[in-house]
Amino acid sequence: MKTYLVGGAVRDELLGLPVKDRDWVVTGATPDEMLKRGFKQVGADFPVFLHPDTREEYALARTERKQGRGYHGFSVYSAPDVTLEDDLRRRDLTINAMAKSAAGELVDPFGGREDIRTRSLRHVSEAFSEDPLRILRTARFAARLQPLGFTVAESTMALMRQMVAEGEVGYLVPERVWQEIQRALHENDPGTFFDVLRECGALKHIIPELVPDESYSAALSALRCVHSIDGDTSARFAALMSPLASDDASNRAVQLKAPNDCQDLARLTTGLLPKIRSMTCHHPETLLGLLDEADVWRRADRFLVLMGALRCALPDTEQSKLEWLESAQRAAAGVEAKELMQQGFKGKELGLAIRNERLRRISEL
Ligand code: CTP
Repeated sequence: MKTYLVGGAVRDELLGLPVKDRDWVVTGATPDEMLKRGFKQVGADFPVFLHPDTREEYALARTERKQGRGYHGFSVYSAPDVTLEDDLRRRDLTINAMAKSAAGELVDPFGGREDIRTRSLRHVSEAFSEDPLRILRTARFAARLQPLGFTVAESTMALMRQMVAEGEVGYLVPERVWQEIQRALHENDPGTFFDVLRECGALKHIIPELVPDESYSAALSALRCVHSIDGDTSARFAALMSPLASDDASNRAVQLKAPNDCQDLARLTTGLLPKIRSMTCHHPETLLGLLDEADVWRRADRFLVLMGALRCALPDTEQSKLEWLESAQRAAAGVEAKELMQQGFKGKELGLAIRNERLRRISEL
């Protein structure tokens, strides 16, 4: 039985990047032998085990063959005669298909080290096309490694285009697509993720509303801005959706099964943007209307995130309107229902008194 470090850990070590998770492949062993050595089996589909002390993942070397279309339907074969090279061959990119032996020797049958040297994201074999998720993974690695000079190899881009043309992207479940988008939004250069998807044609199937040039460049510049202020996922997603009409943004967020906070912020941002753009003076009623729509009185924290997304989605010429909105929010935030109740207001009248007091304070600005 032999154990090798594989995948991301070997890649990141060669790149001089911090290694997060360490994954191992075991050859020449059976599940029974692993269990006898105290490993705990995890997952029913694959022969993957957790080390009793380190809790790191040890997988028996395996091959996978696709049976159906899309992401489902893999048949897994694992036995002591499956070699390390067999296991590495089923992997997506050459830079992810290297291993390191216990003695520290690099096992690199598919030229991963050379592709690291030439900064190339290249598929290991035609089996890449058996899993359409790999299109998104490749785009995500491009987004992560872009600052180091990596690009997608032309042959891999051609294969991805062919997969898209054959309708493979349509087989991806929204949960997996969202998981990749969410991770991509936080990579070093999130825009590259969408560039790669656009180049291979997958963007048309994932977020078709972003395909037109004008929407695309506005979305990417807003996203770049939120990335530079280290906005959270909801702000990044809202920035990406910001050129879209509110209904389109909401429907897309629902179809992608984005989490509720991301759906809400995308809807709110795209709903408010045209109203802010069309504002010509700081009319207290209008400002209060926008603040009410943002539910700022109950959602003060989200308001900060919303302002980040709005700031990044609006051109310089419109920024002063956000300042009006912020000043109005600050002025009206001090209105206390408790004080008005002490003055005898209750029920509907209390609601009206709160509104009037907020308007009065905003008017004083
Ligand atoms: N892998 C693959 N195809 C997939 C998913 C994973 O070939 N659809 C392989 C790759 O060899 C990858 C390894 O499984 O290196 C582990 O996958 P994962 O943990 O998702 O990725 P990492 O490469 O470790 O990257 P990250 O740093 O994002 O965790």
